[in-house]
Amino acid sequence: MEIRQMKLKDAEKVRGLELSCIREYFAETIENNWDDLPKEWKDNLGASSANHFGSYLGDGLSFVAEEDGEIYGFIFAKILEHVFDVSKLVWIENMGVHPYARRNAVGYRLLRETLRKGREMGAEAGHSMIQSGNAPSIMLHKKIGFFMDRREVALLDLKDPKLKL
Ligand SMILES: CC(C)(COP(=O)(O)OP(=O)(O)OC[C@H]1O[C@@H](n2cnc3c(N)ncnc32)[C@H](O)[C@@H]1OP(=O)(O)O)[C@@H](O)C(=O)NCCC(=O)NCCS
Repeated sequence: MEIRQMKLKDAEKVRGLELSCIREYFAETIENNWDDLPKEWKDNLGASSANHFGSYLGDGLSFVAEEDGEIYGFIFAKILEHVFDVSKLVWIENMGVHPYARRNAVGYRLLRETLRKGREMGAEAGHSMIQSGNAPSIMLHKKIGFFMDRREVALLDLKDPKLKL
């Protein structure tokens, strides 16, 4: 399995794999039927969506795992500056491995490659958003050496018309 930088030509295959990983997560956490969710909302989900994909290619920190022309894993990451008391950090937005390729160190290699490259670029830390209860992802991050405490990222919808600021 080759780990290489993600390119524009990977968009369609990575989209399929990221959406299937998101659906897998939703199936466990949300009672909604995927098919009943609004199409516009689903189209905007994930770093591979048309709106976001390009912004994860610029830093060269997004990678895919490829074998015989098929994509079996992906990681989306970029550099963020001056957040979390750090001048430069690697922000890991999402990653996933095809169910057939799991437990073969593909996720480990993808994450390691992103962090190595980020460190070469001068990043001082890595941050990754992990859903609480996602044991495989938590174990993977711990294996690399990530520290996890009780902090969670709270989200605010700034486009909510009912929001009073
Ligand atoms: C999380 C995920 C990316 C792991 O990918 P993977 O290629 O299977 O992981 P690896 O084989 O590289 O595993 C590396 C380490 O992670 C841990 N790990 C991975 N899967 C695990 C599982 N199912 N249960 C417990 N630990 C697990 C282990 O410590 C493992 O090391 P080991 O094999 O020496 O025990 C994969 O399960 C996945 O795509 N899940 C669905 C999408 C998702 O949750 N993405 C993360 C969003 S933050």
